[in-house]
Amino acid sequence: MRILAAGGAGFIGSHLTDRLIKNGHTVICADKLVMGRRNIAHLEKNRQFQFYQADLADARETEALFKKHKFDAVYHLAANSDIQKGAAEPEIDFQDTLMTTRNLLEAMRKHGVRNLFFASTSAVYGEKPDTRLTETSGELMPVSYYGGAKLASEALISSYVSMCDMHAVIFRFPNVIGPRLTHGVIYDFIRKLRKNPKQLEILGDGTQCKPYLYVLDLVRAIVQLTEQWPDTEQVYNISPVGEGTPVTRIAQITAEEMGLSDVRFLYTGGSRGWKGDVPRFEYDISKVISTGWKPDYTSEEAVKQSVLDAINAGWQGEESKQRCRGGFYELQTAAAGISAKGNQSNSVIESG
Ligand SMILES: NC(=O)c1ccc[n+]([C@@H]2O[C@H](COP(=O)([O-])OP(=O)(O)OC[C@H]3O[C@@H](n4cnc5c(N)ncnc54)[C@H](O)[C@@H]3O)[C@@H](O)[C@H]2O)c1
Repeated sequence: MRILAAGGAGFIGSHLTDRLIKNGHTVICADKLVMGRRNIAHLEKNRQFQFYQADLADARETEALFKKHKFDAVYHLAANSDIQKGAAEPEIDFQDTLMTTRNLLEAMRKHGVRNLFFASTSAVYGEKPDTRLTETSGELMPVSYYGGAKLASEALISSYVSMCDMHAVIFRFPNVIGPRLTHGVIYDFIRKLRKNPKQLEILGDGTQCKPYLYVLDLVRAIVQLTEQWPDTEQVYNISPVGEGTPVTRIAQITAEEMGLSDVRFLYTGGSRGWKGDVPRFEYDISKVISTGWKPDYTSEEAVKQSVLDAINAGWQGEESKQRCRGGFYELQTAAAGISAKGNQSNSVIESG
C-alpha cells in the first residue's frame, strides 16, 4: 500500500512509519517538523520512504500532496502536543489538531481515498473519575482545547465516513511512552533531573494516576487493526492491562533508573497538573482485547522501560528541540547525519 503518514516525523508517527515500512508498505510522511526531524533521520535513504515538509493545516499544501500521490490509506497523527502552548494559544489546537483533520478529510473526499486511521485521545471523554470508560460512554465533555479539537475531529470523521463511504479506525490513546519521546511527564522529569539532580518539581500533588502505554504495543495494535479496514468506523479505547501509574511513582522510577538517590520532590499542589489536565481515568479495553491484541508491558513496566530507553539513547531531548525551534535547524540535522537541504526532503508547495 501507498500510505500517507500525517505527523509521521513525531514520536508515535515515526514508530508507526518504521513498522509500516517493515511490513512492505511505501510511506509518504508529511509533517511540519515542530519537533525536528531527528525521529526520521534513519529513514532518509530508505526507498520505501519519502518526506514532505508540509503544514497540513493549510488546505493548499494538503491538496498538493494528494495531487502528487495516489494514497491507499491515510494515518493521521498530526496534532499539537505542546499542552502548555495550546492552553495559552487555543488557535494552535484549532489549527494543528482540528484543521489538519478537516483538510485531510476533504482531500480524501476529493481524491477518493477511503481508508483512515485517526489518533484520538482519552481527553475526548473529559473528566469522569467514577466511570469505567467504554467506547460508547456518552456525555463527552472535554476540559481542554486539545480534547475539544480531537472530539470535533472525531465528529467530522464520522460524518465523512457516512457521506463518502469511508472506512475509519479511531484509537483513543492514553499516555503513550517509549523511545524517541518528544514530550510528557517522563520527558519533563528527565530534563529537570539532568539540570538539578537534587530536587524535582512535580506538577500537582503527585497522586494523578493514568495508564501509560508502551509505544511498540500501540503500534502493533494500529497495524493489526488496519490490516483489514472495517466497513464503516470503529473506535477503540487502548491502554495497558491493569492499574495506571501515579505521578509520584513515575518520579521515583525516573530517579532510581537515573541512579539518583535522596531527590527532594517538590509538589506544586492541587489535584491536577495543569488546567485542562484529567488527573485520573480508567478505560474498559475489552473491545480491543477481543481482537486478539495483547500488550507486552504493564503501565509501570512501560514507565521503567521508557526511562531506560531515554538514558540508553543518550538524552538529547530539550537541547535539540530548542535548537530546532530557535532556527538552528541545520545544526541538528547535521548532527543526525542528514542534510537539511538534502534531496530526500521535498517541499510540498514546490512539488505540488
Ligand atoms: N503521546 C501521547 O501520549 C498521546 C496521547 C494521546 C493522543 N496522542 C496523539 O497521537 C498523535 C501523535 O502524538 P505524538 O506523541 O507522536 O506527538 P508529536 O508531537 O511527537 O507528533 C506530532 C507530529 O505532528 C506534526 N504536526 C503538528 N501540526 C502539524 C501540521 N499542522 N502539519 C503537519 N504536521 C504537523 C508535528 O510536527 C509532529 O511531528 C497526535 O495526534 C496526538 O494528539 C498522543
